[in-house]
Amino acid sequence: MRVNGSLADRKGSDQVATGKSTSSSNSKKNKRRQKKSAAMPTAVQRVFEACKEVFADGAPGIVPSPDEVERLRSVLDAVMPADVGLSPNLSFFRDVGTGGPPPVTYLHLYECPKFSIGIFCLPQGAVIPLHDHPAMTVFSKLLMGSMHVKSYDWVNDPLGSDQRIKSSTGASLAKLHTDAISVAPCETSVLYPAAAGNLHCFTAVTSCAVLDVLGPPYDDEEGRACTYYRGNACSNLPGDGLTRCGEREEYYAWLEERGSEPDELVVRGAEYKGPRIVDH
Ligand SMILES: [Fe+2]
Repeated sequence: MRVNGSLADRKGSDQVATGKSTSSSNSKKNKRRQKKSAAMPTAVQRVFEACKEVFADGAPGIVPSPDEVERLRSVLDAVMPADVGLSPNLSFFRDVGTGGPPPVTYLHLYECPKFSIGIFCLPQGAVIPLHDHPAMTVFSKLLMGSMHVKSYDWVNDPLGSDQRIKSSTGASLAKLHTDAISVAPCETSVLYPAAAGNLHCFTAVTSCAVLDVLGPPYDDEEGRACTYYRGNACSNLPGDGLTRCGEREEYYAWLEERGSEPDELVVRGAEYKGPRIVDH
């Protein structure tokens, strides 16, 4: 999901990253933290260092090698909520009762042209609607809570082109990849430009948090905008969208574009208060 840069509280990040403090007590604490971080990198610093190596040749559509994917996945697997300053009693995880959709909170950790790192915090019932990740490899680590994940991949024209199969109304055919509930702690999921569920929708079964690494990040000017979709069963396929391939059942849907700002999605930025990433 694309998050407007103005939502991310970069001001707060910079203040801490530069080590500014308002009291000698804070200064001593910062020095102790710096000594500790020099001795042992924090979990988010390890994620950052792994991203720098895994996405060193990062570009749209460039997928890291399987070894690199496994390396970053294993680093992300080790991240715990406390490592990024999260606990279930934070206000992000409560619906503020505005009467509208429960808001999603985005915590910005880092972004460069090759990758970005951030955390989405969802109160129970919050939804990040179905959206795509054009030409991107995305790692999603569910840090806490449980979340329903539904994901799809585009079905391309079987004649060998990379054109999508379109309906008469302009919707594109997609094949269901995942329709399941993930419960933390669980393994980091990875999606690719054309496989493993490049389009996904998250629904918070309980309050939950997802650490997201995007390589490369969304970039409207480079043609990698985030687009949202609405799914409809494939009534013109056998079984109303369900087909059987040998022993496997396969589900398909026609996905219609909804633009870049679905009404039911409310995203707010908040200051990330966990350990900072230091870019040496
Ligand atoms: Fe996403």
